[in-house]
Amino acid sequence: MVRGEKLWGGRFAGRTAGSVEAFTASIDVDARLYRHDIAGSIAHARMLARQRIISSREARRIVRGLSSIQKEIEEGKFRFSAADEDIHMNIERRLIGRVGRVGEKLHTARSRNDQVVLDMRLYLRDELKSVLQAVENLKRELARLAKRYLKVIMPGYTHLQRAQPVLFSHHLLAHVEMLERDHERMSGCLERVNVLPLGSGALAGTTLPIDRRYVARLLGFPRISRNSIDAVSDRDFVLEFLSASAILFVHLSRLAEEMVLWSSAEFGFIELPDRYCTGSSMMPQKKNPDVPELVRGKAGRIFGHLQALLTVMKGLPLAYNRDLQEDKLPLFDTVDTVKASLEVMRELVGEIKVKKERMMAAAQNGLMNATDLADYLVGRGMPFRSAHALVGKIVRACLERGCRIEELPLKELKRFSPRIERDVYIYLTPQAAVDRRRSVGGTASANVRRRLKEMGVL
Ligand code: ARG
Repeated sequence: MVRGEKLWGGRFAGRTAGSVEAFTASIDVDARLYRHDIAGSIAHARMLARQRIISSREARRIVRGLSSIQKEIEEGKFRFSAADEDIHMNIERRLIGRVGRVGEKLHTARSRNDQVVLDMRLYLRDELKSVLQAVENLKRELARLAKRYLKVIMPGYTHLQRAQPVLFSHHLLAHVEMLERDHERMSGCLERVNVLPLGSGALAGTTLPIDRRYVARLLGFPRISRNSIDAVSDRDFVLEFLSASAILFVHLSRLAEEMVLWSSAEFGFIELPDRYCTGSSMMPQKKNPDVPELVRGKAGRIFGHLQALLTVMKGLPLAYNRDLQEDKLPLFDTVDTVKASLEVMRELVGEIKVKKERMMAAAQNGLMNATDLADYLVGRGMPFRSAHALVGKIVRACLERGCRIEELPLKELKRFSPRIERDVYIYLTPQAAVDRRRSVGGTASANVRRRLKEMGVL
């Protein structure tokens, strides 16, 4: 083969325009698929030999050539070229350069269309395993923080207004539950990623006697795609990963937002470690929570990637179209961003200092035991609506006087309702309020302890 000629150049009379080479090349982005491309090619070559489509000797030379190319790449000695478009052609060209004409046999019964989607699936399968581990790690770190401050009570909020006292640990476990579902979504995605597309050819399959099951076994795929057109056309497994990542980022972003809020002077519930904050170029006193802010900000980037690929896919006629090359940047950047964000959040959570006294003090204020008083009256036979209205009046009296419910003397409380007795004062403490919420999933310590035990943290 003439150097400089395209591997697909036979039917072309002239050279490709320089601008087109530059415009269509994806090597800068997809070079990272090299390991998976080589693994896929090695399995393919072994199958070709087993089926006697090429000889065993030829297969051995191809496999040896591919392995040495992997080494070249890993040692930084490989010269990637935009003239060869993508990672697949770069490796194939180099293989032919190294082992000679036998290298030209590798691409038998294969198209770049099934090759590229194989590489993507192998790549995402590997990365999903690290993503799953990273989600698990953050979950455990949050659970450990919950254990460390198991008994600390904080104000729970709705509408960002103080609502009812809750255990700080219970609040943290809410984030754990969200991450647990992210983990489930990612595992579900992994199942659908884990399907062998190779053997679909360009779109219609192949006339050559290949054995797809053998390739699947070599590459560890439990399943094989059933329709060659579907296999090279769809990228729903990427969309699914991007969707799961977008939802994960909704969760990370909300956790990050709480870190930002809680570390402000206005809340003062936590202190972020100096090592994870940055200063201001102008204001010497500043300590800024840039890490959670960036995690919050990167959510926008991930949502954008999902939107981008949905848009790329939506009008494409079957089967392969070059538009599909645009799947790589969103996927790779999402993988990188998800992994980095999970990891830095885990580190951060591991070093948060909780200002228990501030949280406890905040939990005393805001008349957050009003619901408890209403429940107390319900326990003494009053219908809830009447109790709600009555406590509303007590709350108004407290607001006028600037005092808490439990600061009103019994005599006065009795004037609102004779059903109120001395035991109401024990009932109204934040501790009692929390521990009485024993309904399944409620904030009572007993529930939180059980969940932590289930997780093996306690
Ligand atoms: N680089 C392409 C991609 O990433 C694969 C090549 C398929 N190209 C083609 N002309 N059939 O999707």
